Amino acid sequence: MLADLIKNNRSYRRFYQNEEISHQTLINFINNTRFCPTARNQQVLVYRAVTEEKIRQVIFPFLNWAGYLKDWAGPPQGERPNGYIIIGVNNKRLLFKDEWLNADLGIACQTILLQAAEKNLGGCIIAAINKSEIKKALNISEDIELKVVIALGKPKLDVKIEEIDDEDDIKYYRNNGEHIVPKRKLDDILF
Ligand SMILES: Cc1cc2nc3c(=O)[nH]c(=O)nc-3n(C[C@H](O)[C@H](O)[C@H](O)COP(=O)(O)O)c2cc1C
Repeated sequence: MLADLIKNNRSYRRFYQNEEISHQTLINFINNTRFCPTARNQQVLVYRAVTEEKIRQVIFPFLNWAGYLKDWAGPPQGERPNGYIIIGVNNKRLLFKDEWLNADLGIACQTILLQAAEKNLGGCIIAAINKSEIKKALNISEDIELKVVIALGKPKLDVKIEEIDDEDDIKYYRNNGEHIVPKRKLDDILF
């Protein structure tokens, strides 16, 4: 059910690194994402699928994981993502630079992650990336402005949702190895 997929589609940051994802799987995710709505039908988002181990190693140091967890530097060797989808904007196709670009981006990210969830994969949108270093390392055209990297893999299922009251802290935290994500209650998001 779609509701289950949405709930299971948490941000996962630890993976079974020995479980490879095929390049074609990521290309299929991107292909389906082509059919997403996009403001003014501009379709300026462009994607690169990365599964090759050598390139994964190049990208990893340029990603910032879980900003609220000050004592965690990201997944250690053995728990790193098995693939990435890098998303950028092709500025050459950009007719209208407006606030809605980020809406396109969000829709695309969630569409990719829901497809991953359907295949018992999971991942994390990473916006805190070193864009210039990734562009340099992967020799990405100057026409492309990087936006996010989606890290993907077979997740270690260590994420739990916790319902919170309005005054409670929204910061996620770790408890006995579990990653706890506070979510507001339905009554608190209705107006
Ligand atoms: C636009 C966007 C940017 C994000 N950037 C990062 C990031 O740079 N690093 C990271 O570890 N998580 C990042 N996340 C993941 C969020 O921290 C995560 O969605 C949030 O903690 C809620 O957890 P959940 O996705 O399991 O509901 C990002 C999420 C979104 C939607």
